[in-house]
This record gives sequence, structure tokens and C-alpha cells, in this order.
Amino acid sequence: MLEVKNLTFKVDENGVERSIVQDISFTVEDGEMLVITGPNGGGKSSLAKVLIGIEKADAGQIVLDGEDITEYDIDHRANAGVGFAFQQPPRFKGMTVERLLSLAAGKPLAECDCCELLSGVGLCANEYLKREIDGTLSGGEMKRLEIATVLAKPHKLCVFDEPEAGIDLWSFSMLVDQFEKIHSKKDQKLILISHQEKIIKMADRIMVIEDGKIRSIGSKEEMVPKLFGESSDCKCAGRK
Ligand SMILES: Nc1ncnc2c1ncn2[C@@H]1O[C@H](COP(=O)(O)OP(=O)(O)O)[C@@H](O)[C@H]1O
Ligand SMILES: [Mg+2]
Repeated sequence: MLEVKNLTFKVDENGVERSIVQDISFTVEDGEMLVITGPNGGGKSSLAKVLIGIEKADAGQIVLDGEDITEYDIDHRANAGVGFAFQQPPRFKGMTVERLLSLAAGKPLAECDCCELLSGVGLCANEYLKREIDGTLSGGEMKRLEIATVLAKPHKLCVFDEPEAGIDLWSFSMLVDQFEKIHSKKDQKLILISHQEKIIKMADRIMVIEDGKIRSIGSKEEMVPKLFGESSDCKCAGRK
């Protein structure tokens, strides 16, 4: 289980302290999928960064399967079983796709393993294995490669920040299949930040974050009618 207790993250804005994640508490059970949604600037990516260790919490505690990971840095958290995909994936000039996937898996991968990972996110291994992770890859290709790195090994907790951004409809349905696969693993916990109705409706529980706080949280059955009502527009979304 993931237990997030009273998490607060503050930034300095022109000398003024601002809490962009304010006293957030929630849990994610083993095998559970939590979708976080809410207006832009609400603090979703900041919460994800604090969970994966890129940013350090100013207060609160993060406990993963009974292990307090609050003080762990990003490497230590990755070793403790946290996998993540950024809203804007970083590029690694000079590194090939093949090497990145092996690093992500924590062991050298055979070509057929890389091929399976790439085809799972809709990329053809022949075209991509030897390519560098540089500016020649499109945003959508970067997103799919990054998702493949998360799929390269099992994690206790996977966090995906807006995985749908910049992805075409065909690739999107492949990604949905990959998320279903993670979701079906009973020992993994899955957090997806998304504005996409299809992803929101895959969740076991949905959390809406606004102004750094939890505005509402509940089961899919409770939350979907509140978010979507009769129409299919997500009323909380207001995405970029
Ligand atoms: N390092 C930072 N310094 C100052 N402000 C930040 C920093 N990171 C995020 N913010 C601000 O915090 C708010 C929440 O941002 P973010 O977590 O990216 O929101 P979301 O992912 O929900 O769109 C935004 O107003 C953003 O500009
Ligand atoms: Mg964001």
C-alpha cells in the first residue's frame, strides 16, 4: 500500500513562500489505480514530483509497502520500487533507445525484449532501437518511449503524468492496454494524472486536486457522475 500523509511542498515565488501542495493525504491499495485530475496549475505534477523524489516535501510522509521513503532521493526511490513517466520527458543526447531500455530494466535486455516493449507502445523496434533520445524524436515518440521504460520492469508504484499528451488516437488505445496490464497486477499501485475520460473511467478511485488541495476523492462510481454528468466533457479538466 502507498500511504501519503499530510504532504506539503512549498516554493519561493519572488521571495514569497507559496504552498503548491498543501497537506495532502491519501492511500493507494495494492492493485489499485488512482487517477488524479483537476485544473491546470492545481499542483498535480508537483505532487507527482514529490512522490517520485525530484522535489523534496517540506512536511509529511510517504510510506510504500511499510517503508518510509520520504527522505529517499530519486535513485533510492527508484530502487525502492517507484517508476515514473514525466509530463515532459527528458531527452538524453548520445544514448540509444536500446541502452535506455536496458538501464530502465536494470539489466541488459535482449533485442527481442526491447522489441516487445517498443511494440507495446506502438513503436517499431527496427526503426527505433539504434536511435538517440535527442531532439529528432517527436513529443509523442518521447512519451511512448518513456512509458516503455516504466514497463521495462515491475514496480511497486508507477506514476504517469499526463501520458496521453501529444499521443495520437491509435497509440493512445495501445497505451490504455498497457495501463490495463499494470492495473491487473495485484501487487502494483498505479497513479495516473490525466484529463482523458477513457483513463479517468479506468480508475478504481479518482482524486481532484485544485489549488494544491484535494477538492474531492472517491470511487469511480461516486466521482464519474460528478465530473462528467450527462455530457462527456470533464468539468474539472480545463487542460492545456
Ligand atoms: N519550482 C516551482 N517554482 C515556482 N512555482 C512552481 C514550481 N513548480 C510549480 N510551480 C507552480 O505551482 C503550481 C502547480 O503547478 P503544477 O504542479 O505543474 O500543476 P498541474 O500539474 O496541476 O498543472 C503552478 O502555479 C506552477 O506555476
Ligand atoms: Mg501537470
